[in-house]
Amino acid sequence: MSSSYPYTDSGYPYTRIFVPPSVSVTATHRRRWGVLVFGVATFAVALIFYRMIPEDRGETRSHGAALTVVMADSRVPVVPNEGEPIPYWTLTTLINHHYAREQGADFVYVVHEHDAPLRGGNTPICRHPRLGWRAASWCKLPAVWEVLRTRSSENVVYIDTDGMFLSTALKPSRHLDHLTPDKPIGFVSNEPWDAGVCAGYFFLRREAAAFIKAWWDTDVPRKNLHRLWEQEGLNKLLKEDVMREEAGGVKEEGGMEPANHTTYADHIVHLADERQFTVQDSQQLILHITSEEKNRYDLIRERWDHITSLKDRDGMRALLAQVDIVRMNTSEVALRIEAEE
Ligand SMILES: *[C@@H]1O[C@H](CO)[C@@H](O)[C@H](O)[C@H]1NC(C)=O
Ligand SMILES: *[C@@H]1O[C@H](CO)[C@@H](O)[C@H](O)[C@H]1NC(C)=O
Repeated sequence: MSSSYPYTDSGYPYTRIFVPPSVSVTATHRRRWGVLVFGVATFAVALIFYRMIPEDRGETRSHGAALTVVMADSRVPVVPNEGEPIPYWTLTTLINHHYAREQGADFVYVVHEHDAPLRGGNTPICRHPRLGWRAASWCKLPAVWEVLRTRSSENVVYIDTDGMFLSTALKPSRHLDHLTPDKPIGFVSNEPWDAGVCAGYFFLRREAAAFIKAWWDTDVPRKNLHRLWEQEGLNKLLKEDVMREEAGGVKEEGGMEPANHTTYADHIVHLADERQFTVQDSQQLILHITSEEKNRYDLIRERWDHITSLKDRDGMRALLAQVDIVRMNTSEVALRIEAEE
């Protein structure tokens, strides 16, 4: 498919299974009914075997919910023994998984496969084939791109491991309903840091795959391994002209109408009034825990104690066992992104 805009090009190959709305059983239909039962049984057996295949077959499971909530990190969520602190990314995983399930959404936690030993946020984790090695924070982009490729969900919500949903009573549609084919990706406020967007949480429709690719393809060499990583790429992208590169320089030759000179910023939803770094009101969907607060379990416990006691390590392990944790080589995904034109 072409990676070019307009966003109205949904263009993504994905499988839909058509389920007939009703099947009436009459004498003449008995044979067909039998075939149907046989078909369903075969499908069920196939599904059982499919699910027995280990995770590293390279494709995420396709559950088919309308929404998939995605988290991604180079660190695996684990529940250590009593006495040892629980990593905050384990807690946010359990919270966000719980939220997704309450919403009838799929949930996937992507673990970036990596060769280098982890040394914080500057560790090279995934490689852009042309632009070089990048830190884990960047690797969420190929991860989301791959989730779009391998799952049939119309919508994806991406949330960093230091972010969490605040209440199961608040629906993701609060954000998703703002999206259109022309504005297929959205962000909330980055206050109090600045008036821009934050790359740690975003919501999108399938049409945004081209945006994700354009974002991944931004070249900010100094930020490949350093803060604020892909957020700097995003800020750069939002200033860029949508058509310039895709049109192969047509604009420079004067062939394009002024009306076509839209920037990427014209094609995003920015809910600038909705905070994420402080809790402003009861209608706020997510909270991003800032670096100073990462070990503030009280902040998490306050809202989520009903899920499970933080002392019940076995209970937490049982919950974590329900989470779809997918190992993904995002360098390999990046090769696929690069090959797609
Ligand atoms: C990921 O894929 C790349 C490209 O195929 C490969 O060079 C690298 O060794 C892989 N890394 C891991 C950890 O599997
Ligand atoms: C500019 O946009 C209009 C309408 O959207 C379209 O008809 C026209 O072909 C575009 N021009 C170029 C040079 O892309």
